[in-house]
Amino acid sequence: VDPAQNVGYGKIILLGEHSVVYGYRAIAAPINLAIRAEVTRPAAVAGARPDAAAKSELVISGWDSDPAAHNPDGAALAERVATLIAARLGVADTPVRVEVFPELPRASGLGASAALAVSVIRALVHSFGLSLSEEEISQLAFECEQLVHGTPSGIDNTVATFGQTILFRKTDAGNEIEELDIPVPIPVVVGLTGVRSLTADTVGRVHAGWEKNPQHYEAIFSEIDGLVGTGVEALRRGDLPALGEVMNLNHGLLNALQVSSPELEALVDLARRSGALGAKLTGGGGGGAMIAIAEPGRIHSVANTLDVAGYQTYLTEIRTSPNGRV
Ligand code: PMV
Repeated sequence: VDPAQNVGYGKIILLGEHSVVYGYRAIAAPINLAIRAEVTRPAAVAGARPDAAAKSELVISGWDSDPAAHNPDGAALAERVATLIAARLGVADTPVRVEVFPELPRASGLGASAALAVSVIRALVHSFGLSLSEEEISQLAFECEQLVHGTPSGIDNTVATFGQTILFRKTDAGNEIEELDIPVPIPVVVGLTGVRSLTADTVGRVHAGWEKNPQHYEAIFSEIDGLVGTGVEALRRGDLPALGEVMNLNHGLLNALQVSSPELEALVDLARRSGALGAKLTGGGGGGAMIAIAEPGRIHSVANTLDVAGYQTYLTEIRTSPNGRV
């Protein structure tokens, strides 16, 4: 068992968050930040008889000291996720210690909850010698996402599992997932607002708006879907200016859906003024993260401007399959 395999990838949504929940297309890509998990079974290692009173333990290294991670429910939610996974895998009766090593900030729109679920599933599968297909791993992570988010589209668990750039659409008959070939890697800077936001809240707000004004909301979703189509073509041509333009338009429509925030607007504005070709919020919004693309020769200066302004940033690239298939 190679513990390095117990990984769930973080992701960015390049285009199409929120509308993807309503069956419209979205593009998502894994980033070079992941979550890894390890399982130890003390009783099995010591050769001792299992202690009936022993309890399983979930330890997440690092998140407590993460200033952007003050979610009182976070640890409890992660435990419910781990409990659900253990039950579904039929290993709930064996006490284990699950240790999780996140590189991803929590609740920042980078898919940390799905990445955590995938890493814990993989670690338990390996530890107990179970065999699960990649689709089954993704499906179980989807159930975990339902626990955390209520009505997830399924895009996060898909990218967290497969680690590939995809065009995604949720349909009643199942998810349509198309792997996208990216001819030239596209440099991306991710900027964190430092404001944590729960995707369940912003998804709920959009839902409330959609219920009141379905035709206006559907019109916006459909417009975003058109931008996704244009974005796919731009990605395939490696046309960064065209991709940047649709990202900017998508951000405007997300603002119309009221999932932006003053902090996100400030970040987007700064990224554009420092030479980004396109900048938008990514993921649930309401805080969380922004992504910006720029020409390869320009991306460091965009990131640097954001760093100097005090934002935490990450550099990543959109590629066909940045990490290789797990
Ligand atoms: O905030 P994140 O990283 O969980 O991304 C959420 C993306 C949404 O489209 C807003 C919700 C979903 O389930 O697709």
